[in-house]
Amino acid sequence: MKATWILPDGRSITAEVPAGRNLMEAALAANVPGVVGECGGSLSCATCHVHVAPDWAAAAGTPGDFEEAMLDLADAARAPTSRLSCQIVMTPSLDGIVLRVPQG
Ligand code: FES
Repeated sequence: MKATWILPDGRSITAEVPAGRNLMEAALAANVPGVVGECGGSLSCATCHVHVAPDWAAAAGTPGDFEEAMLDLADAARAPTSRLSCQIVMTPSLDGIVLRVPQG
């Protein structure tokens, strides 16, 4: 399965992501700049903030209440499809997902 990150400068990075891996860990493995994952995926840092491409928003799902609260603390501006990428776990239905890394 694949995921693509679009960087603020327009470059993109596509990587293989195994099922069950969250998209923050996948970004770190693929050296995606701007995705830090400071808390290791425990939903307490918001440094894994991404904007899910609109076409993928439904498949990626909506943030839970706590994730919502954490998104308000993110450095970059929120978008309607903002998610904390440590909370999105790769599944076959997300194969090909596109995420935008917000300007920090
Ligand atoms: S890695 Fe810290 S909230 Fe996602």
